[in-house]
Amino acid sequence: MSIDRRTFLGISASLAALPAGSALAAVAHAATVEAPMRRKIPGTTVQLPVIGMGTARTFDVGKSPEERSPLAEVLAVLLQRMPNAVIDTAPSYGNAEAVTGDLLQAADARRRVFVATKISANAANAPAQFAGSLSDLHTDTVDLLQVHNLIDWRDNLKLLRHLKDQRKVRYIGITHYRDDAQDALAQIVRAEKLDFVQINYSVAERNAERVLLPLCEERGVAVLINRPFQDGRLFAAVKGKPVPDWADEIDCESWGQLFLKFIVSHPAVTAAIPATSNPRNMLDNVGAAFGRMPDTHERARIAATLA
Ligand SMILES: NC(=O)c1ccc[n+]([C@@H]2O[C@H](COP(=O)([O-])OP(=O)(O)OC[C@H]3O[C@@H](n4cnc5c(N)ncnc54)[C@H](OP(=O)(O)O)[C@@H]3O)[C@@H](O)[C@H]2O)c1
Repeated sequence: MSIDRRTFLGISASLAALPAGSALAAVAHAATVEAPMRRKIPGTTVQLPVIGMGTARTFDVGKSPEERSPLAEVLAVLLQRMPNAVIDTAPSYGNAEAVTGDLLQAADARRRVFVATKISANAANAPAQFAGSLSDLHTDTVDLLQVHNLIDWRDNLKLLRHLKDQRKVRYIGITHYRDDAQDALAQIVRAEKLDFVQINYSVAERNAERVLLPLCEERGVAVLINRPFQDGRLFAAVKGKPVPDWADEIDCESWGQLFLKFIVSHPAVTAAIPATSNPRNMLDNVGAAFGRMPDTHERARIAATLA
């Protein structure tokens, strides 16, 4: 374990002991630690840190400072530790897209993140929905626009291509969150030219290893991973279980980091997008982009903890 890693873990431990209001100050001291692991968007020179952030449910809050200030701290941790990280949102996530836009604007951070949103409407309503997303996000362009859950995907992909030609979006993709959609996703990856695919993959849901991940690697498609904790269910599965001693060998100090390193150590994965409303958990999650990654044997060992 490097000195830098120790510094990072020390900050992380002290953060856990601090009141939430102090989190930002503690993170500010983390500025000198090593760079996070990054992966290239295939076919480009653009690199993304392997840990980003989702916003479904966690950022779906109202306007009060009580609701928004913990999320501003979550964002501050991400900005501090993961420059150019993916933030994934959608117009169908209640207020989450607008809250994301407001917090990015307040932090003057639009150009320091990779904003991914979605078309969650049928093709007839998609242009208006995208206009609403740009307005909610306080931006003229998004980095990635995805067809959400394959809704009207043929026609929506045409719109996405048009928007890419107009430079309103930099990259285009498709998403789903269930194993039973992955065969359909694979057919589209074979037939269409896509920049990104966003899918579910975790230590407890490994179907993507069968076809989709190798296919994306072969076709040069970037992969974002949603539901990395199965919407938090993985933590319930290990409740009361101590983090294994050997976690230290792969620079993990928590179950969350083990679960995330399992994902981002797969060579086809570009970034995982865990969601959190808690700055401490965000700091825990970004820690998975640092230090040694598990090899094949160690990945199997992580998976066996849930067997
Ligand atoms: N079809 C699609 O396109 C699709 C579908 C599903 C999800 N997504 C995207 O993927 C993102 C992530 O998936 P998800 O929202 O289903 O959930 P997830 O990231 O698998 O899990 C989120 C849950 O884990 C908890 N958590 C996060 N970090 C933690 C940590 N270090 N320690 C303990 N608990 C932790 C959070 O609670 P706290 O808030 O208390 O930290 C929250 O309850 C979504 O937000 C969304 O952007 C896309």
